[in-house]
Amino acid sequence: MSADSFKAENYRAGASPTFHAAGNRSGRLANVCPERGRGVIARYRDFLPVNDKTPIISLGEGDTPLIYCPQLSERIARGCDVFVKNEGVNPTGSFKDRGMTVAVSKAIERGTRTLICASTGNTSASAAAYAARAGISCVVILPGGKIATGKLLQAFAYGAKIVAIDGNFDDALRIVRELGERGDFSIVNSINPDRIAGQKTAAFEIVDELGNAPDFHLLPVGNAGNITAYWAGYGEYQARQRTFPERQSNGSIKVPAMIGFQAAGAAPIFHNQIIQKPETIASAIRIGNPASWKQARAAIAESHGAIDIVSDGEIIAAQTWLARYEGIFVEPASAAAIAGLFKCCDSNEAAYSFKKIPEQSRIVCTVTGHGLKDPDIIMQRMRELKPVPATVNDVQRAIDL
Ligand code: F0G
Repeated sequence: MSADSFKAENYRAGASPTFHAAGNRSGRLANVCPERGRGVIARYRDFLPVNDKTPIISLGEGDTPLIYCPQLSERIARGCDVFVKNEGVNPTGSFKDRGMTVAVSKAIERGTRTLICASTGNTSASAAAYAARAGISCVVILPGGKIATGKLLQAFAYGAKIVAIDGNFDDALRIVRELGERGDFSIVNSINPDRIAGQKTAAFEIVDELGNAPDFHLLPVGNAGNITAYWAGYGEYQARQRTFPERQSNGSIKVPAMIGFQAAGAAPIFHNQIIQKPETIASAIRIGNPASWKQARAAIAESHGAIDIVSDGEIIAAQTWLARYEGIFVEPASAAAIAGLFKCCDSNEAAYSFKKIPEQSRIVCTVTGHGLKDPDIIMQRMRELKPVPATVNDVQRAIDL
């Protein structure tokens, strides 16, 4: 999409068919970029470490909706626009697929027969799927008893070799690093630069769609690979704008302030110290010693952004709110970005206050994983559902509107 063809109004107009999801699903855009829908390597090949000999392992990841959110925008007011980049609709339900297509394609190019990763759940689901697609094996090392039901189920379904350890994610990653050094496995955690390369395509999509980077980008932080990847992506697009002559007439590409959110009980970057026993209901970001800690710090400093914390209560409230008022159901870790947005709007304690940001600022929140992956908390509420007799009267009484 060309820079000036984007208008937030396109998303606001309630009567417009593009209101429910961002316009990137429309046939009009397919003409602009015929590679869309075929995966991030097909679309952004020139920006990725692939060549003619790289076998492309793709499940059609990326091209995820950037959804204008009227209720969230209203929370900030002053003409600001809030968009949610819904990464939960990737093939395995999380943003990991963007990096996995590149990491697995490159691993196959190098002749790898077995992938290995540590995971809080989503990386393992994604690695297992792409390994299955490539016809190779995948070993996943997981913190025992700490993986959300849907994610573990995915690893089983895709046929991974699953090892649960008596330890947390940081222990699992330590073991994976050691096994990886012995040369029998290709590590597909975000310490593999091919993962970061693939994940930066989310930033490209946002710039392509909005015609420029947003002013603020909010996202959850765990092992800190994703904030690193987005920052690299925005920077790369800005640096390459000279090669997009059509853009120059529309002004230069900017970069956003990156604002990351950790769960209060698992916030090593915020507290600037390793957390030995990280705890949070958002199991995806239950990490005490992030691998890309330094890179995340650099992204925050260079972008004049911030790192902040949100409590488990705030995370669950934001998860419920986003489903209830914007129709977007995300897993708890993803809701940390929305809880963070509320904190920036409302709290005097916020590391970054939105009370005085310029009018008409554009804010993107990345929601990283689908809500169905982690059903356990909501399932508790389902127990309240008791059947009523099968008569119209009983059903009417039960509806109680
Ligand atoms: N959101 C979700 C849903 C995640 O699964 C993760 C990380 C993050 C946010 C944080 O991203 O690590 O790049 O800062 N999940 C990893 C995993 C650790 O094993 O699936 P990050």
